[in-house]
Amino acid sequence: MASDLFHFAKHFITSSQLRPLPLPQTPQTNRTVIVTGANTGLGLEAARHFARLGAGRVILACRRTAQGAQARRDILQSLGVPDSLPVTGEVGGVEVWPLDLASFESVLGFCERAERELLDGVDVLLMNAAVVMGDRVEMAEGWEMTVTVNVIGTFLVVVRLLGLLKRAAKRGGTEAVVTVVGSEAHSLAKFPERSQPRIFEALRTVAGPGYVDRYGTSKLIDILVARELAERLNAAHGDRSPVTVNIANPGLCKSSLFRNTPFYVRWAMAAACFVLGRTSEVGSRALLAAATMGRTSHGRYVDSGRVDCPSAFVMSWEGRMVQPALFDELMEILESIAPGVTGNITDK
Ligand SMILES: NC(=O)c1ccc[n+]([C@@H]2O[C@H](COP(=O)([O-])OP(=O)(O)OC[C@H]3O[C@@H](n4cnc5c(N)ncnc54)[C@H](OP(=O)(O)O)[C@@H]3O)[C@@H](O)[C@H]2O)c1
Repeated sequence: MASDLFHFAKHFITSSQLRPLPLPQTPQTNRTVIVTGANTGLGLEAARHFARLGAGRVILACRRTAQGAQARRDILQSLGVPDSLPVTGEVGGVEVWPLDLASFESVLGFCERAERELLDGVDVLLMNAAVVMGDRVEMAEGWEMTVTVNVIGTFLVVVRLLGLLKRAAKRGGTEAVVTVVGSEAHSLAKFPERSQPRIFEALRTVAGPGYVDRYGTSKLIDILVARELAERLNAAHGDRSPVTVNIANPGLCKSSLFRNTPFYVRWAMAAACFVLGRTSEVGSRALLAAATMGRTSHGRYVDSGRVDCPSAFVMSWEGRMVQPALFDELMEILESIAPGVTGNITDK
């Protein structure tokens, strides 16, 4: 663990952590934006930027709606907008919708509501919510929490909402984009499960190297799955996907991300953040940079605002070989939760 943390800190010092991130300026006028995990941390600050830049609707997709309502008030106050509108359901402005990525029922309910209410489609889907767990927590569906929230629930939303993203793209004028928030931690994942014939099954049953490492594994899988999704969308749409899919790394930021980890991890991360960490606001600029970068970022890893190479494993032949099998296994899981959902990838 100590050597992992040292490697983590060293990597940040020598890489993009010190890169300045300019204030986002790209207008978001009339765009519909969904930000998951928007009640706190980077998600809250990203949602604030989207609202400041004129987005027509900013949906704060939150597991805890009371905190979401507080975040909404905070955003409106900071922008000088009266807080007299109801918390949910108004057309235009900032809205709070419940979404628990650990519950497939909640995810499907959220997506059905989006189909009913977001008739012009979704221009930006920022999949920001994630957890780092210190222990194994089993979910009702039999999956472990980190994989459920950071990967399965995340891509269930993405694939389920592809129809709305394509609709926004068809409307013209703007590009529809899915940005999945990644992490430098992906490069530290040991990922022994990659040699198993069924990787998600192994992640469900095999103990692995530890649950903090599981976070890095989940972020590594996010990169591989997002890259494969980008390729499949291209293949299904004459080599030109109507929806841009990318991964954004915000670098090390001050937030409550490590709250479920053992005290020594929290202390180490707090110390690293004290020296090097960006504020959540500055980190959120990296998310806006990816979400507004356009087609050049399709299938790419956007590290602190710039397209860059992810870890050596992701770039390796082995990473390339693991990627489609991992994607297909995840799509099977999504089909078992929502039959027919993967047709959204190829539907025009
Ligand atoms: N902070 C960093 O140094 C850092 C570095 C690289 C990447 N990132 C990534 O940046 C993103 C934001 O993290 P953060 O640092 O802002 O952490 P954070 O303050 O802990 O925010 C995480 C958000 O995810 C939400 N969330 C957790 N479980 C959820 C679930 N089951 N359903 C719906 N929402 C859920 C949380 O909601 P609750 O408040 O209800 O728990 C919270 O809103 C994450 O993807 C993280 O991996 C962060």
